[in-house]
Amino acid sequence: MHHISVLRDELVAGLNISPDSQNIIVDATLGLGWHACVAIGKMKKWDIFIGIDRDSENLARAKAIIEEFTKGNNSIPDMHFIHGSFAQIDAYLTELHISSITGIMYDVGVSSIHFDEWDRGFSFRLDWPLDMRFDRVGMEETASHLIHSRSERELFRILKDYGEEPKAFFIAKAIVDARKKSPITTTGELVQIIEQSSFDKKSPVRVFQALRIELNQEFAHIEESLQKAVRLLAPNGRIAVISFHSLEDRVVKQTFAQFEKDEIDDFTGQTKKPAVLKRVNKKPILPTEEEIQNNPRSRSAKLRIVQKQSDY
Ligand SMILES: C[S@@+](CC[C@H](N)C(=O)[O-])C[C@H]1O[C@@H](n2cnc3c(N)ncnc32)[C@H](O)[C@@H]1O
Repeated sequence: MHHISVLRDELVAGLNISPDSQNIIVDATLGLGWHACVAIGKMKKWDIFIGIDRDSENLARAKAIIEEFTKGNNSIPDMHFIHGSFAQIDAYLTELHISSITGIMYDVGVSSIHFDEWDRGFSFRLDWPLDMRFDRVGMEETASHLIHSRSERELFRILKDYGEEPKAFFIAKAIVDARKKSPITTTGELVQIIEQSSFDKKSPVRVFQALRIELNQEFAHIEESLQKAVRLLAPNGRIAVISFHSLEDRVVKQTFAQFEKDEIDDFTGQTKKPAVLKRVNKKPILPTEEEIQNNPRSRSAKLRIVQKQSDY
């Protein structure tokens, strides 16, 4: 499967890149760099672009694609590429001596290349090592380690909270019973355990999603990064986020909601301080029918854009 980026123009348009003033733009999830190329195409020589990915293999691919895209163009922005989680966005910017940014975009989750690479263990379709780490350099724990180190109750919680798996109880029990007999090290072994305990063909997709989210601490990283991004945004700066399922979208929506309320004087009823963030679109932006047809993976994507309107 070739990676096609979702809501490509809409995500970048959300950043409101200015043709006149300096833009300092962060792509927090470079992936293969397709959204980044659209953003860089709108930027000027005096702008700064910072690309981050937790996966060093994707980071290297994105760099190559962006280099190819910008070859021969001498009005490209100053570019920096960082391997690490977007949760540490503040530290990366401090290192670059950058104190505020005009826009940051996120396209969270896995890239289709993660599913295509046999040895990454994100896909349950074939019998591959049960890995699922976004960062094979910096992380030691794999999904196989995870299912051996958590209690039955913890596994149940993970499957329930991050997979919304109706048969979580039976699957957690089956995993614990199976691991007593022999280690579970491949995706195929896990799929067999899931299917034999849930009798539901849809369970593997939900269980794999849940394990991936827990292993990579995806929601905690998103929340931490968005909180920091709000602080780092310059006045009128924008955050644009694409999420891929309802649980992920909830984290984004709830984190933004903390900054979307005016501070009201309870005596006068007047606004003391306007909300830090305002929504650019009332409702999230969804892919068109045409995009969904061309790229079924975009089906559940939602794009939220906010703008900073007061100090924080
Ligand atoms: C859907 S892809 C992004 C695709 C990209 N927008 C493009 O156009 O090619 C998501 C990327 O985010 C990365 N990622 C996931 N969690 C991350 C995190 N906490 N920090 C940085 N990158 C992360 C993944 O490794 C993956 O490469």
